[in-house]
Amino acid sequence: MTVESHKGLAGISAGKTAISTVEASGDGLFYRGYDIQDLAAHTRFEAVAYLLIYGELPTATQLSHYCEKLQSLRTLPDELKTVLEQLPADAHPMDVLRTACSALGCIEAENSTQQQADIADRLMASFASVLLYWHHFHTAGKRIETQTDDNSIAAHFLHLLHGNSPNEQHCRALDASLILYAEHEFNASTFAARVTTATLSDFYSAITTAIGTLRGPLHGGANEAAMDLISQFKTADEAESGLLQMLSKKALIMGFGHRVYQHGDPRSPVIKQWSKRLAEDANDMALFEISERIEQVMKREKGMFPNLDFYSASAYHLCGIPKPFFTPLFVIARTSGWAAHIIEQRNDNRLIRPTAEYIGPSPRGYPSHV
Ligand code: COA
Repeated sequence: MTVESHKGLAGISAGKTAISTVEASGDGLFYRGYDIQDLAAHTRFEAVAYLLIYGELPTATQLSHYCEKLQSLRTLPDELKTVLEQLPADAHPMDVLRTACSALGCIEAENSTQQQADIADRLMASFASVLLYWHHFHTAGKRIETQTDDNSIAAHFLHLLHGNSPNEQHCRALDASLILYAEHEFNASTFAARVTTATLSDFYSAITTAIGTLRGPLHGGANEAAMDLISQFKTADEAESGLLQMLSKKALIMGFGHRVYQHGDPRSPVIKQWSKRLAEDANDMALFEISERIEQVMKREKGMFPNLDFYSASAYHLCGIPKPFFTPLFVIARTSGWAAHIIEQRNDNRLIRPTAEYIGPSPRGYPSHV
């Protein structure tokens, strides 16, 4: 039987989901029916994570209990601290997170599927602690205390990073970005997590798979690659001529394009607005103006639009976040979406095993001379 193949599975529906819907027109992204524009404007990341993992938005009381629960899950076991201390100082933080997730799977193994939402909460709550324990140990020889009083994941991350109470506006910007990064239907890392889950493997293995998949520059790594791009230029005019040169060499411009959206990424205007606000607050418009000029050139020359990763780069930079932590922040947010998909896959499982169109040699005799 000849099976038609679709490179990159483009345009193929690989299953059903009730978690989110991506409108190909580019007009919308909805988490369990709620428009991300509304979620980003009216609520906080923890409520969105609850929506994704537990199925409905929390009441005020549920949200307050949930935030307390997440806050109680920030401490790292000594065995994990030892692992983090042994990792190289120049490792990429994505590799640190991937290793830490796998190590936690050994230390706090999953004993029953009842535990799965608790594991999701544990990972989301502790990933900032993991990253910054490793960071401060290797950059300053400090074994930091990973428990803080901040009641949001965004504030906890910024507090551990900078070592003091975080700026309110930075917390709000980071929180909005975590909402935008939380979930995105059958994207590459989520699909990878579902493939691992479908073999009846454990929760930590599925999240470890997803982190490894998110790492690449065509997926989550694009926010770091976008920072490399914009930080090459000192002015908007320099960015325009540099970009034209890159386009003439058919270079891939990081932070642009999307497999599903055709006319625009609905998350981009939200993060762009934050990037602008942060730049105005800091009285430092350079990076924003460079980014905006690149956006204009890409639209004019290629008809292409920025995806979420593009303006996330300048927004994160303006929050004082070093570039290697950009994709790990995506992990912290997306763990909520991955978790929702792992739970959904387990509830209606079938092994995911596609076929391939064979293009190798026809059957032939084994050579006598070998
Ligand atoms: N810069 C320049 N050209 C781009 C481009 C970009 N960012 N993204 C796509 N194109 C071009 C391709 O070169 C290709 O041109 P061709 O038909 O002349 O060969 C065409 O647009 C189609 O691209 P293709 O790679 O087939 O699309 P895809 O659906 O497989 O890939 C992405 C989607 C997101 C992987 C791709 O747009 C990309 O690599 N973007 C940059 C990385 C990025 O920002 N990733 C984050 C995604 S949220």
